[in-house]
Amino acid sequence: MTARAAQPSGARIYERCEALAQCSEESGALTRVYLSPEQRAANELVQGWMREAGMHTRLDEIGNVIGRYEGVRPGLPCLMLGSHLDTVRNAGKYDGMMGVVAAIDCVHALNARGARLAFAIEVSGFADEEGVRFNATLLGSRAVAGTFDAKVLDQRDAQGISMRDAMSAFGLDPDRVPHAARKRADVLAYAELHIEQGPVLEAEGLPVGVVTAINGANRYTVEVKGLAGHAGTVPMNLRQDALAAAAECVLAIETRCGREGDLVGTVGRLEAAPGATNVIPGDVRFTIDVRAPRDDQRRAAAADIKAAIGAICARRGVQFDLHPTHEGNTAACAPWLQEQIASAIATEGLPVRRLPSGAGHDGMAIVDLADIGMLFVRCKGGISHNPLEAITIDDADLSARVFLRFIESFRPAGERL
Ligand code: GLV
Ligand code: MN
Ligand code: MN
Repeated sequence: MTARAAQPSGARIYERCEALAQCSEESGALTRVYLSPEQRAANELVQGWMREAGMHTRLDEIGNVIGRYEGVRPGLPCLMLGSHLDTVRNAGKYDGMMGVVAAIDCVHALNARGARLAFAIEVSGFADEEGVRFNATLLGSRAVAGTFDAKVLDQRDAQGISMRDAMSAFGLDPDRVPHAARKRADVLAYAELHIEQGPVLEAEGLPVGVVTAINGANRYTVEVKGLAGHAGTVPMNLRQDALAAAAECVLAIETRCGREGDLVGTVGRLEAAPGATNVIPGDVRFTIDVRAPRDDQRRAAAADIKAAIGAICARRGVQFDLHPTHEGNTAACAPWLQEQIASAIATEGLPVRRLPSGAGHDGMAIVDLADIGMLFVRCKGGISHNPLEAITIDDADLSARVFLRFIESFRPAGERL
């Protein structure tokens, strides 16, 4: 065993994120959605690295990759680590993936030292956190937490394929998803390393931070139904233009969410049909994503947005349907885990900065199973959900060292070992 092998390696974490970025449905851009051939390729890479790090691996009933490193005796409760392996469209290389490969690298270092801890370690590569394919988010971690809603099995992707059929084609049995749920007694805590996806750490010259809470979110799909017509013959005052109505809704969302500093609202996708230069749009679908640190604040904004859409559509004589696709409350990171992560940062000689997460994470689902904690890593310009997402090898190295220190020093709440 060399001293080098016994520490996590920022260079290896970086290279593995590069390798995972090759598992993409488009060349020259990274897009990897749930139950895709690219996900299968990424799973195989990750399982190979897990085995190399001394773990047993399996694919669970929803398609999460799980690696287990036993403690001093087989079968002990585990400290669960990990993040997600799916991406948004035209994604960066680190959102999710870095947390999985950094956790594997920490286990690799423990294994190189021959170290066994008083608890097992499990690393999860969650199959779907972003919710891109089926408009339902946190599918992998919800299955593990036992909160998977079987109704989403009937949701369809843009090609009209139901999640149920996509699971069967992938080799998974949709009726067995409940078996992915873990028992509380088997999971001591969940800890995730993730890029910050925001600019705070970089602005303060800090490589890492302790997450205090993950902001809650509401998501909706909206369909506005007007009347398609001839762009040359229908006078402006006699139109039922679904796109003009949707555009006004988008601006109403922007205005409402802009009123409060820490509330955010986004229309990230909008499609107009039939989609021709000389046809008045008759049908428009768009998504809404609203987030805030306080649940009451988020719910009030969501209610105001629904009322504004209703008023705009009524005034313009168009119909609308609004469907909730996700609601997640703010998930607090457990103070005792925050303390242990903070202490690992301080022991590496770094200042301890605590900050909330504006982005969603698997912890929002896992919090129903176990206490959660998160370590944030600085990313360039705070840019994320964008191919410009970037980290440095030095930050990968340092953050993985902090994470390993946290793992080695981990003490469960309430003397559960
Ligand atoms: C996940 O990355 C989200 O916050 O939408
Ligand atoms: Mn993301
Ligand atoms: Mn993420």
